[in-house]
Amino acid sequence: MAWKLAQSAELGTLYAAPGNPGIARHAEIAPLDVGDHAAVAAFCGAHRIGLVVVGPEAPLVAGLADDLVAAGIPVFGPSRAAAQLEGSKAFTKALCRDADIPTAGYAVCATLEAVRAEIARRAPPFVVKDDGLAAGKGVTIAVTREEAMAAAEAGLADTGDRVVIEDFLDGEEASFFAVTDGTAIVPLGTAQDHKRVGEGDTGPNTGGMGAYAPAPVMTEAMVEQTVSAIVRPTVAAMAARGTPYLGVLYAGLMITDEGPKLIEYNVRFGDPEAQVLLLRLESDLLEIMLATVEGRLAAITPAWSDEAALTVVMAAAGYPGPPTKGTAIGGLDAAEALDGVTVFQAGTASGDGGLVATGGRVLNVTGRGATLAEARDRAYAGIDRIDWPDGFCRRDIGWRALTARDAG
Ligand code: AMP
Ligand code: GLY
Repeated sequence: MAWKLAQSAELGTLYAAPGNPGIARHAEIAPLDVGDHAAVAAFCGAHRIGLVVVGPEAPLVAGLADDLVAAGIPVFGPSRAAAQLEGSKAFTKALCRDADIPTAGYAVCATLEAVRAEIARRAPPFVVKDDGLAAGKGVTIAVTREEAMAAAEAGLADTGDRVVIEDFLDGEEASFFAVTDGTAIVPLGTAQDHKRVGEGDTGPNTGGMGAYAPAPVMTEAMVEQTVSAIVRPTVAAMAARGTPYLGVLYAGLMITDEGPKLIEYNVRFGDPEAQVLLLRLESDLLEIMLATVEGRLAAITPAWSDEAALTVVMAAAGYPGPPTKGTAIGGLDAAEALDGVTVFQAGTASGDGGLVATGGRVLNVTGRGATLAEARDRAYAGIDRIDWPDGFCRRDIGWRALTARDAG
């Protein structure tokens, strides 16, 4: 987002917090604890900030947007009440039920006994989810009842109160993105990601090991159906509750034989989905965001590149468990010297001798090209120039779309 906002003709000064060395190429790093809402508001006042963009879900769920808006500072991103669409699976499931939005059947359970009864009357595979935020790791698809009970027990201990048991949805996953000011809905494209850590989509779930855009399964008709059956009724229901949704709404979908069904909402762009979506956006992102907070979104039609984009995540050894920290990363300039390659940074910091890894997912090596195959080849050519022996990546990002393309 910093990379894209920095290109805006409307921009004065871009500040970012907490930031990293990659973001520092585009923004001035503000020494702010974003959990301290009063400090953020004071910083905005002192620097005459015209717009705050809240990127991740945790500060949104914590009500940062509410506190800044109360201080008179325009914010792109949903209120605490609207961020429940990501912050509470039970909230979203109830909203879907009330608004007749297609999603998996479900039960909310507050005790192990309730879970046991729910599992007993279902057939495998069992889908067990923590109710609250879990950084993409709160879902277990269990084949046996024992596994499902173990996951529920961990979930009840973790998030304190509730787990959600869902029907298993069969189909192909895809994501649809829109921006809304509470009334108007403007599509921001489609993407598919790879959630499992291992090649062939195996191993534990992660926040995402790679993504590409657009998603071939999201045809124009499928996008229309998604907007009319899922996104529009959600935006209408949030407005009707008196908690209009403002910001980017990310619908995680299962494309089933009966059409698209909602798996989950995220109240933001998604990582690494943002990287591929924003590479394809030709319009000024800041202009779109300003139009959103000023209620002028209905008049905006973003322009998109015809090119495809694909990003490969390089993660630190150990991820999605505790990652190895502090290892040296080189070769970024060599990778970015390649045509159509952009490297975005996530868990990085400046060390004594240069860039070091500080998190699980560390780099997003991103390619764009006339076809998805070309975007993929460019991304992996970039990966091959990165010098980071302690990092790893999947070599098969995009396999599903590329296999379908080759076959058809
Ligand atoms: P979520 O955090 O809700 O997006 O779930 C993480 C992943 O678990 C999804 O991307 C799906 O791959 C899988 N998943 C979640 N819910 C279901 C479901 N009801 N049926 C099948 N797979 C699911
Ligand atoms: N990649 C999924 C997410 O950002 O939640």
